[in-house]
Amino acid sequence: MVKVSLVGFGNVGRELLKRLADVGGELGVEVTAISSSRGSVIVAGPGDLAYALKLAREGRKLDAHPGFREGMSAVEASIVGDADVAMITLPPSYSTGEPNRSIYYRLLEEGVSIITADKTVLSLDGSKLLEKAMRNCLFIGYRATVAAGTPAIDAARGLRLREVARVRAVLNASTNYILGFIEKGLSFEEAVRESIKAKLAEPDPTIDTHGWDPAAKLVILANTLGSDARLDMVERTPLESFSEEVVRDSVGHGRRVKYVASADLEKGVYRVRPEILDSRDPLATAEGEENVIVFEVEGTSVLLKGPAGPAWRTAKVMVTDILDYLEWRNKLESC
Ligand SMILES: NC(=O)c1ccc[n+]([C@@H]2O[C@H](COP(=O)([O-])OP(=O)(O)OC[C@H]3O[C@@H](n4cnc5c(N)ncnc54)[C@H](OP(=O)(O)O)[C@@H]3O)[C@@H](O)[C@H]2O)c1
Repeated sequence: MVKVSLVGFGNVGRELLKRLADVGGELGVEVTAISSSRGSVIVAGPGDLAYALKLAREGRKLDAHPGFREGMSAVEASIVGDADVAMITLPPSYSTGEPNRSIYYRLLEEGVSIITADKTVLSLDGSKLLEKAMRNCLFIGYRATVAAGTPAIDAARGLRLREVARVRAVLNASTNYILGFIEKGLSFEEAVRESIKAKLAEPDPTIDTHGWDPAAKLVILANTLGSDARLDMVERTPLESFSEEVVRDSVGHGRRVKYVASADLEKGVYRVRPEILDSRDPLATAEGEENVIVFEVEGTSVLLKGPAGPAWRTAKVMVTDILDYLEWRNKLESC
């Protein structure tokens, strides 16, 4: 049996609990603790789990649970729940890295493996985190951090030690939606407002429009390919540095503006910026929640295109990391 603590009970965390209720039995996974920003629930029996599931289905917060322990941190709850794996769905915190960084490192110190959808720590100092996990003989799964519904991390792993010169990608769905609204005639501010209203962008849209989110994904992707990049190495140009006229005129001239993340792996140059693309460029075809990644490798290219979120799909992807965890653990035990 694998004991799992859920760190975060928001959009993805709630979907994760629902998904584990469906497939956890088959996988041998048991949820023993759930945490949110203000406290935790220790899942001591089927009643606790059933109530948490009801909250998840109703889209409600964890503090409505009768077993909610105000002030109990995610790390404490993972220890009390004797978790083998913490599944992390914390909001990003790119400016300070906290509380995310401390939570990750304390979990590793307590011998808890990590499966995460949050990009914060992997993009700020991912190589340190992965080294620490390896030293402590623990697993880190992060398939959901980049392009969630499309196996971008798997593709990057498969291209390690190949000659990947460059990666060019559209990795952020919210800016796809915002650009789409601008193409239809809205101003930048109206497009952002519309995207937030339709829950297509975060309440703080600068995480997307100032490139934090795609930059973090780019770093994780580049590091999976073998680089040693950090978020502070990415040059970020805000989406709004291109006027609405440039966006609309491009469409009239067989082109499209997209928010492009690119990594020149040979020179170590990482950028996120709006670019005018030829409409035949695969990146120009990204619509709404789609992500597109082009790996330029050995004089040709490998192209990946597919969905990013939404939350229910991201949760499913996190559960595929449990399969990797189980395979990793079985290998360790059989050696
Ligand atoms: N949505 C997607 O499709 C998608 C795809 C890929 C990756 N992601 C990433 O997945 C993560 C979660 O996204 P989301 O949409 O689920 O976010 P969300 O709805 O804001 O949920 C975040 C959860 O984390 C909890 N939390 C905050 N600080 C905490 C702390 N110190 N200890 C324990 N819990 C804490 C919040 O608690 P409260 O309930 O008390 O506020 C909330 O339950 C983000 O990093 C996002 O970038 C999302």
